[in-house]
Amino acid sequence: MQETNLFTPLQLGKLSLPNRVIMAPLTRSRTPDSVPGKLQEFYYGQRASAGLIISEATNISPTARGYVYTPGIWTDEQEAGWKGVVEAVHAKGGRIALQLWHVGRVSHEMVQPNGEPPVAPSAIKGEGAECFVEFEDGSAGPHPTSTPRALETDEIPGIVEDYRQAAVRAKRAGFDMVEVHAANAYLLNQFLATGTNQRTDRYGGSVENRARFPLEVVDAVAEVFGPERVGIRLTPFIELFGLTDDEPEEMAYYLAEQLSRRGLAYLHFNEPNWAGGDIHFPEGFHEQMRQRFRGALIYCGGYDAERARQRLADGTADAVAFGRPYIANPDLPERFRTGAALNEPDSRTFYGGAEKGYTDYPFLDNGHDRLG
Ligand code: FNR
Repeated sequence: MQETNLFTPLQLGKLSLPNRVIMAPLTRSRTPDSVPGKLQEFYYGQRASAGLIISEATNISPTARGYVYTPGIWTDEQEAGWKGVVEAVHAKGGRIALQLWHVGRVSHEMVQPNGEPPVAPSAIKGEGAECFVEFEDGSAGPHPTSTPRALETDEIPGIVEDYRQAAVRAKRAGFDMVEVHAANAYLLNQFLATGTNQRTDRYGGSVENRARFPLEVVDAVAEVFGPERVGIRLTPFIELFGLTDDEPEEMAYYLAEQLSRRGLAYLHFNEPNWAGGDIHFPEGFHEQMRQRFRGALIYCGGYDAERARQRLADGTADAVAFGRPYIANPDLPERFRTGAALNEPDSRTFYGGAEKGYTDYPFLDNGHDRLG
């Protein structure tokens, strides 16, 4: 039997992917009015040869925001903007999931409606955490986050409803799937982790209680899309924005079993050392995930073609997602297939601006699909 590689087709829930090269979600901060437009249509369309594109993190409501210039999915204009993006990807034969995002405490009064404090499981400020704000003079930049206020128990159903509404809009916009962003120290991750969740109600304390709200969100979104069109992103062991967690392994295993029972399409892990540092998954973690979850497993973080090949060949992953390589290489699958060199991403243009560092990275044949 031929070894599974990046070009072995994959059934991901309801979707048939022609390859296993996934475009990781990448915030690019190029929607000043939070509405995706022609520039985003072009950017995502350029990357349609991915097995699956996962969109940049997209705010589900005004309180879900922590960074100016990121897109939303709570208004008609935003929905229409995303519809254009989906159509551009589909027109080129691609598939795209929307990543649903609430930042929780990684925000500031300046970004929040009516200058209110951001919301979180508990009123604990993220040590050293920064969000991205617009100042009164119109300039924008990083800024320390505010101390959040703890959500009341009876407010939580309202946020679950915001996720559900966002999924309804995503479905109307034509997305093939949605990914629940429960990673990178944002709201759902803040509920999962012991350091950020010190609640004493049914949403805090035990592993089961801390997982309750994220699972309610998954259930709400799955009611809209069907579980086979829903994935989730997790980051056990990650230390970001001052988040700490005493039980990441127990929680990851519990979630894998719960999500498996629900028939979720995939679990997607951003590995803890993705931004450098020396934190790794414990020995045997990937194998444990395989045993506990029957959907697809996607890993991301520092992969190149060779590491991805190994991960697929040893059977611990079904697909591999690429972040920074996708910023710089719109035709990444073709480059992997032919062994061509990769363009280097320029971190100065990761966030903000327009075409430069966004839609102007060359394809292999140097043919620039031009905008317009
Ligand atoms: C990211 N990452 C990220 N993750 C996420 O879940 N939602 C997001 O919107 C973003 N945005 C984002 C922007 C930029 C500029 C970078 C570099 C990263 C994390 C990303 O999806 C991925 O997990 C990491 O980049 C690690 O993968 P690579 O880059 O090592 O392949």
